[in-house]
Amino acid sequence: MNRKDFIKASCNFCLLGTAAMLLPNLTGCSPSYSVFSTEKKNNELQLPLSLFEKNPLQIVRVKGMNFDIAVQQKDKENYTALLLQCTHADNELVPAQSGYSCSLHGSQFNQDGKVIKGPAEASLKKYKTTISNNYLIITI
Ligand code: FES
Repeated sequence: MNRKDFIKASCNFCLLGTAAMLLPNLTGCSPSYSVFSTEKKNNELQLPLSLFEKNPLQIVRVKGMNFDIAVQQKDKENYTALLLQCTHADNELVPAQSGYSCSLHGSQFNQDGKVIKGPAEASLKKYKTTISNNYLIITI
């Protein structure tokens, strides 16, 4: 092996080692969730409660809406439904370790939609939820 090949092989080894060290940290940053697509009927969304048996966080994609809705099960009777639209400059939010984050300017919101890091100042839009016949009803 000549000097050039040795340096190239060493760099590749270092890159693989760095990636292996960072991977657990990166995967630990995003929570587990499922995506559920639906349509609104009479200003309501209906989600089967069985969805939450698989995953307490559902990202609801509603036909005709520009932003998804994050629905978090708190317990069997309580759910939080938040519009994933950043209140700073309308960027789409993504689930993060302890809530939702904005990639545009770095705002972070907790699981109740309250700002935990600016520049956003206002809480996320929250929708009313009720339970009826094994469905979670979200009024939008
Ligand atoms: S648009 Fe989200 S922080 Fe600016």
